[in-house]
Amino acid sequence: MLASILLFTSLFTLVIALDNGLALTPTMGWRNWERFRCEVDCETYPNDCIGERLFMDMADAIVASGFKAAGYEYVLLDDCWPAPHRDSSGRLQADPKRFPHGIKALADYIHSKGLKFGIYEDFGKKTCAGYIGSEFYLQTDAQTFADWGADLVFFDHCYAAAKDMKYGFPIMEFFLNKTGRPMIFTCPWPMDNRIQHIKPDFPAIRKTCNMWRIYNDIEDSWDSVIGIINWWSKDWYNMSAYHGPGGWNNPDMIVVGNFGLSPDQEKVHFGMWCIFAAPLLLANDLRSINNRSKALLLNKRLLAINQDPLGIQGKPIQMVGKLLTD
Ligand SMILES: *[C@@H]1O[C@H](CO)[C@@H](O)[C@H](O)[C@H]1NC(C)=O
Ligand SMILES: *[C@@H]1O[C@H](CO)[C@@H](O)[C@H](O)[C@H]1NC(C)=O
Ligand SMILES: *[C@@H]1O[C@H](CO)[C@@H](O)[C@H](O)[C@H]1NC(C)=O
Repeated sequence: MLASILLFTSLFTLVIALDNGLALTPTMGWRNWERFRCEVDCETYPNDCIGERLFMDMADAIVASGFKAAGYEYVLLDDCWPAPHRDSSGRLQADPKRFPHGIKALADYIHSKGLKFGIYEDFGKKTCAGYIGSEFYLQTDAQTFADWGADLVFFDHCYAAAKDMKYGFPIMEFFLNKTGRPMIFTCPWPMDNRIQHIKPDFPAIRKTCNMWRIYNDIEDSWDSVIGIINWWSKDWYNMSAYHGPGGWNNPDMIVVGNFGLSPDQEKVHFGMWCIFAAPLLLANDLRSINNRSKALLLNKRLLAINQDPLGIQGKPIQMVGKLLTD
């Protein structure tokens, strides 16, 4: 009875998703940000700097360690990849020292492993880390990403005006669509709204983006993880009503396998992200991850909960005792 009521509610409230046929279940993959940030010193840190080596290594590790077989598919290149200037035809180019073969070659390598490639930009003047942004070049950049073979584009909101969010993301989505290449589109649009105390237009967001950030960036600590869980549990603006195939509330990356969480805290973190039907983007080092954390991330039963085709976001129905804080 309960199950049928939940199903009924969800079918009648889910508004139209972005029509690109993608992200029908929560996206699974690897993303460098929380672990590798914006380390650009490849002389001192050749294995850990934001350069083609790191992403090729990680693609190899995803295949060799069984992550691909478990469903982790996308390799996401975050901020700090662009060179300081566009080329003579106005196209973005990668930093030539750290990506000597260019982004297309990196995407080709990732595709050759049977994986998919995602790339970061920002619709403002600059990216959040201060690299060149897409302002005034949305159409050119959408085409460049398609030409490079991107399968996912995540577009940030730094150095852009709050009032432009409702234009910038739909316009970029329009240009991505025009390229004819299906690319998952991910946005921090409602996160910007939250910061600016603007009520998010979730129907418009769901029509434009395949997943969206709302709350704070995750850090490698229990305070951060439990903060996100507690905040998510309040179902801010009824966000769970807009969550499902084609469009997902994204509580941010998975930090399992790093330094800040105990084994039990890792279980709570990953278990809750599975219950939330959240995108699973691992921000860790798959070349050296310990076997216990790896087994957790490959747990078939948890992944089956996360990847359930109905895509319903789990919510607390009764609070027993206090919220967990430590
Ligand atoms: C572009 O949008 C149309 C209409 O919504 C859709 O049918 C088509 O699949 C989209 N194409 C891509 C590449 O996303
Ligand atoms: C959330 O949904 C409930 C029940 O439908 C409604 O009473 C409430 O006003 C909604 N809250 C917001 C912030 O939209
Ligand atoms: C992890 O398990 C494999 C065998 O499944 C073993 O060869 C390897 O040494 C283990 N690694 C660690 C760090 O314990």
